[in-house]
Amino acid sequence: MADSTNDAVPASSEYDKIIAVNINRIYKVRQHDTEELTEFQVLKNVNLTVKKEEFLVIVGPSGCGKSTFLDMVAGLAQPTSGEIYMDKKLITGPALDRGIVLQGYALFPWRSVRKNVEFGLEIKNVPKKERAEISQRFIDLVNLNGFEDRYPHELSGGMKQRVAIARALAYDPEVLLMDEPFAAVDAQTREVLQGELLRIWEKTKKTIVFVTHSIDEAIFLADRVVVMASNPGTIKDIIQIELPRPRDGIRASTEFGKLRQEIWQLLQGQHISTEELQTNENLHNEAV
Ligand SMILES: Nc1ncnc2c1ncn2[C@@H]1O[C@H](COP(=O)(O)OP(=O)(O)OP(=O)(O)O)[C@@H](O)[C@H]1O
Ligand SMILES: [Mg+2]
Repeated sequence: MADSTNDAVPASSEYDKIIAVNINRIYKVRQHDTEELTEFQVLKNVNLTVKKEEFLVIVGPSGCGKSTFLDMVAGLAQPTSGEIYMDKKLITGPALDRGIVLQGYALFPWRSVRKNVEFGLEIKNVPKKERAEISQRFIDLVNLNGFEDRYPHELSGGMKQRVAIARALAYDPEVLLMDEPFAAVDAQTREVLQGELLRIWEKTKKTIVFVTHSIDEAIFLADRVVVMASNPGTIKDIIQIELPRPRDGIRASTEFGKLRQEIWQLLQGQHISTEELQTNENLHNEAV
């Protein structure tokens, strides 16, 4: 497809929430030795549609442009060419219709848990009493009742992440954008948070775009997994995850293992089709 800028809203169905059309992002970087400016293409012709209420997960090697793409959907960065639409409206900047949980813990250290969760509600001028009711509901939802008056430095990593999720959900965004939100917590807490996020997603019907380096996390959470390649960042493939929900205990299943291998192969750059995997497995089974 051409690298054209197209002002017309792309054809979309009522089930489409976010549509990214021909996204290119080029940075100009200064060479240390020659001081010359050279162009560095981070994203190339990225076309992606996220459906309403979908849980979409993006995986890809470090530096392939995952955060750059998410920042653009958040409206915090602009593409060099191409457009991103939400509900058929061009995204031109950040807004409260999109909640963001970025890498690391970007909580306000001077605010208590309750005050962190109420932040977006204050911006929206929600009255104090209503603010308190809403923040309590989301603090309960992420199982942090009893910790309302604590400050971020008094919380564990997993608890901080839950505050960040509650804060993003409290002002009722339609879309939740999450960039490696669980990367800094231990494996057990991570699984607990994944389960909680799925529970919240099923309850609140948000559209979620979630970036991770973990193949298992991607399969466990996603309706679809977008696999990216780097230099320049492109979409290599999109894998439909048709595992039944709820997914407790699903990690041990054969189907999960096949998806894990398929995505792993894609990330290694040596695509093997599901049929081939099946054949390989049959051969293997016959051999043993
Ligand atoms: N302001 C900038 N100027 C120049 N290059 C940049 C800038 N911001 C990001 N990049 C480059 O863009 C590429 C994509 O960065 P990005 O943070 O989107 O990657 P990522 O896929 O999120 O990686 P990771 O998995 O490590 O978080 C990287 O090569 C990075 O060096
Ligand atoms: Mg990143």
